[in-house]
Amino acid sequence: MQRKKVFITRKIPQAGVALLEKSCDVMINPEDRPLSREELLAKVAEVDGVIGLLTDKIDAAFFDAAKNLKGYANYAVGYDNIDVAEATRRKIPVSNTPDVLTLATAELAWALIFAVARRVVETDAVMRSGTWTGWGPLQFIGLDVSGKTLGILGAGRIGAAVARMAQGFGMPLIYYNRSSNPELEAQTKARKVSFDELLAQSDFISIHAPLTPETRHLFNRESFSRMKRTAVLVNTGRGPIIKEDDLVWALRNGVIAGAGLDVYEFEPRMAEGLSELKNAVLLPHIGSATNSSRDGMAELAARNLLAMLASARPPTILNP
Ligand code: DGY
Repeated sequence: MQRKKVFITRKIPQAGVALLEKSCDVMINPEDRPLSREELLAKVAEVDGVIGLLTDKIDAAFFDAAKNLKGYANYAVGYDNIDVAEATRRKIPVSNTPDVLTLATAELAWALIFAVARRVVETDAVMRSGTWTGWGPLQFIGLDVSGKTLGILGAGRIGAAVARMAQGFGMPLIYYNRSSNPELEAQTKARKVSFDELLAQSDFISIHAPLTPETRHLFNRESFSRMKRTAVLVNTGRGPIIKEDDLVWALRNGVIAGAGLDVYEFEPRMAEGLSELKNAVLLPHIGSATNSSRDGMAELAARNLLAMLASARPPTILNP
């Protein structure tokens, strides 16, 4: 049988590449940067399958360019970069990488919650500056976490993992989600609430919803104004769920107490003024950046693509 041609839009862990190489000719973008739109469309012209990233737009123009395409595997759990309806219309299977990064991303949400609450980054900078004069009763007072109410936006796999971890800190749990999650409620006593209640009652809010037209800019001036002034917002999901200019306004004016961000509205850029705010902790989209998660993502993307190339059902297909 003729070997299939596969293109990977950026270097990914060898675990996935090795799986593909057993039966496919694999080409990988050699540059350590995302391809431009033109480069991407040119590279996929002759290939049977593609593994791509959340920075690659997989839409009608992509499918037009990739005229031999038998399938596309996203190297990410989030898939707002893929026009799934268009893929389905063309009968092209597309997939994502759920589960393998759930714990890593949930752990990072906790890292942000604590980093903001206890001013970890700000006080680390004080130590490095050599200006600390010794212990003081009124220095660097932060926020309590244990026993405070945690609000989860999006009670899917990652949101549920964050909620389960919160039990160790005795935190009452509330969540806002389109549908109920009875398993989560049974495991953690989490309560489904309206978005209004989530805003009003949470001491910490952690975002785990997908980016959709309904969630874009869900956090804006108006919603920040309905949060507690002592509240902290953490986002390890997708940047555009927060209107970032409005977040800068809220943090600057004490409308909310702090924010921890791993994702941004216009990555890799940040809203003007954000980097000057001491009550913001800012990370470069590292939610899934552990060895086991990234290896797991590479292997799952490869297994998905191999199934597509064999006209079999991929393990984590997105098409309905
Ligand atoms: C995802 O998988 O959607 C993350 O944003 C990157 O791992």
